[in-house]
Amino acid sequence: MTGQLEGRVALITGAGSGIGRAAAQRFAAEGCAVAVVDLVAAAAQDTVDKIIANGGRAIACPANVTADAEVRSAVERTVEAFGRLDVLYNNAGVNSSGSVVDATEDDWDRCMGVNVKGTFLCSRAAVSHLAASGSGAIVNQASVAALVGIPNFAAYCAAKGAVVALTRSMAVDLAPRGIRVNVICPGTVFTPLMEPLLRARGDGDLEAGLAKTTVKYPIGRLGSPEEIASAALFLASDQASFLTGSVLTADGGMTAQ
Ligand SMILES: NC(=O)c1ccc[n+]([C@@H]2O[C@H](COP(=O)([O-])OP(=O)(O)OC[C@H]3O[C@@H](n4cnc5c(N)ncnc54)[C@H](O)[C@@H]3O)[C@@H](O)[C@H]2O)c1
Repeated sequence: MTGQLEGRVALITGAGSGIGRAAAQRFAAEGCAVAVVDLVAAAAQDTVDKIIANGGRAIACPANVTADAEVRSAVERTVEAFGRLDVLYNNAGVNSSGSVVDATEDDWDRCMGVNVKGTFLCSRAAVSHLAASGSGAIVNQASVAALVGIPNFAAYCAAKGAVVALTRSMAVDLAPRGIRVNVICPGTVFTPLMEPLLRARGDGDLEAGLAKTTVKYPIGRLGSPEEIASAALFLASDQASFLTGSVLTADGGMTAQ
């Protein structure tokens, strides 16, 4: 590792699992102190334990990104513990299922709540600290679902599309405060989030679901959490100093065809 985030502090939401955990571990390995935010306290602590075992610095901040008071408290705890905040990675997200005909209202609200409102609340709570750091960067997590229609994924497509639009709006509004805002659109990555969906796609058979999905990827495989973490690291680091409002597609060519 090359110390790309040496001396920086990042808050990563949904870092108790999957892509968020991989990013927390990678950022820490690059010299960053990390606040691991997750709805599931034990999962957040597990990520922290892994980072500390490797000589990194991290704290667990259990919080629901849709609850403003919890989000504000997580941001304040981070600044108390590490003295500053340079990077916010709005990674927490949930899936939904169903087309616009059969998606439930509860599912719609939950999907929009975690993916979109969560990004709004975390960003709002972090802005003053990110501006004060002089190297503020926000990385949002969207999906290829923001760019193409995915069957039976109506609420998720809408939510991730909103995250891309919100990213552009925030990039324009926050540039004068020295904060860059970019968004990643990952293709399918095998994580706990995707497993039920992949299984359902294979009519209960995970291998069949994986095969049906992989065929859509010109690169011939799905992504890994570590590959998306690398994209997040790039956007969070000074390597991306002229990027703001950018949509970085990390999808093995899925949307290129
Ligand atoms: N896995 C994929 O194929 C894929 C593809 C494109 C985009 N994404 C996006 O990447 C992000 C991470 O996905 P993942 O696959 O690593 O998922 P994951 O389910 O493995 O991890 C998500 C984490 O977010 C946490 N979380 C959920 N709701 C929360 C809330 N309200 N407050 C705080 N934490 C909450 C969960 O507890 C979990 O630990 C999501 O935004 C997802 O939509 C994933």
